[in-house]
Amino acid sequence: MTYPSESRIEFPTDFLFGSATSAYQIEGAAQEDGRTPSIWDTFCRTPGKVLGGETGDVAVDHYHRWREDVALMAELGLETYRFSISWPRVQPTGRGPAVQRGLDFYRNLVDELLEKGITPWLTLYHWDLPQELEADPAGAGGGGWPERATAERFADYATLVAEALGDRVEHWTTLNEPWCSAFLGYGSGVHAPGRTDHLAALRAAHHLNLAHGLGSQALRAALPARAKVGISINSASVRAVSDSPEDLDAKRRVEALANGIFEGPLLRGEYGADLIADTAEITDWSFVKDGDLENIHQPLDAIGVNYYTPSLVSAVSPEQEASRRDGHGASEHSPWPGADRVAFHQTPGPVSEMGWTTDASGLYDLLKRFGREAEGVPLYVTENGMACDDKVGADGAVHDPDRIDYLHRHLAAVADARAEGVDVRGYFLWSLLDNFEWAYGYSKRFGAVYVDYETQQRIPKSSARWYADLVRERTLPP
Ligand code: NOJ
Repeated sequence: MTYPSESRIEFPTDFLFGSATSAYQIEGAAQEDGRTPSIWDTFCRTPGKVLGGETGDVAVDHYHRWREDVALMAELGLETYRFSISWPRVQPTGRGPAVQRGLDFYRNLVDELLEKGITPWLTLYHWDLPQELEADPAGAGGGGWPERATAERFADYATLVAEALGDRVEHWTTLNEPWCSAFLGYGSGVHAPGRTDHLAALRAAHHLNLAHGLGSQALRAALPARAKVGISINSASVRAVSDSPEDLDAKRRVEALANGIFEGPLLRGEYGADLIADTAEITDWSFVKDGDLENIHQPLDAIGVNYYTPSLVSAVSPEQEASRRDGHGASEHSPWPGADRVAFHQTPGPVSEMGWTTDASGLYDLLKRFGREAEGVPLYVTENGMACDDKVGADGAVHDPDRIDYLHRHLAAVADARAEGVDVRGYFLWSLLDNFEWAYGYSKRFGAVYVDYETQQRIPKSSARWYADLVRERTLPP
């Protein structure tokens, strides 16, 4: 499959075009109006964790510039805007009553979006767990997602936000990329809270699933019947370098563990036999209690698919495995158990500033797979985009042809999947604005809109203009 395709592509008027952000990456105002630290505030202050020691303290100051930012969205003609609520801004300790000023911020934002005809698409959790919940010594080794209590707290938080905004927000996403929360947060430790413990990571994955399940039930209980509830996941689009049994087994391992740990319970109400077998040395899964799988396997109104690049894998040879054990040639801590038995390769093709290969066929494959495995559930690409080395030119403009090319190819892949009957109903460009890219600090720019971090000036890049034209014309040229 090559993208873009050979003919003009039309998107119907009911296909939603939007853009996405998340609270910690854009808001700033980290100490204002009663907000308390999240695990990311703490992590950023841990030496060596975030490039250049950068933090989200100011970020792109969206907390003060939200009106200007919504005006920008309207200027670009966006139909929907995906954003997240900062849990420690609305419920500082992760328990108890809400802080009204925190809720007011989001209520004003939502009202402004609605006023401009932009559909709000709300994510409850995009990685900024209140620090108090992580620190809570609910179990050995700390609290946070490895503990069941965090899932229960999440359900309360979901109720509180639903009661405040349920009269004006129709589209609700429980979690963003629980894979990252579990495996980067507790496995490899490159994300907050930075723990490196495979058992904690597996427990975190389960309790994130449970948070989704309990949270979506809490949302349905508090929201009007027309509300839609879903989750955004970043399942890998996996290929093996060859058809050898060893390489195919490496692919199976990624699918069973990294993908299956979320897709299994969400779509089928089970943890698969392969996953249980592959993790037998670490756990007997006794932290899964009676009723958990039923609680997780709730009806979904939407699946959000986040996609950037495919995963090309092969088996690790016995020699490589030995050298990895000696601490050579692999990262210090693998994200999930068994990941060090898989070699991840760079797929051919141009790479982004993240070092991620541009390959839209991975998105097509992923959508086709979800079309089969989650039949009947509408799909939305809730994140897709590219980090580029954007610079303001002498003309004061930012030209980003590589990003335009990337978006073009991926939207053509979406159209292809749709043409083959996959029910994909919308696309969110990541990201509206350049922002805090987690462990990379501000060094990676994903925005359609450039941000000068000194002055906070916003400059729509060529890709923003290109996207605005697409949204208006609903046509992708060949
Ligand atoms: C996934 C995450 O949801 C988002 O926060 C991040 O900035 C992008 N991917 C790019 O890495």
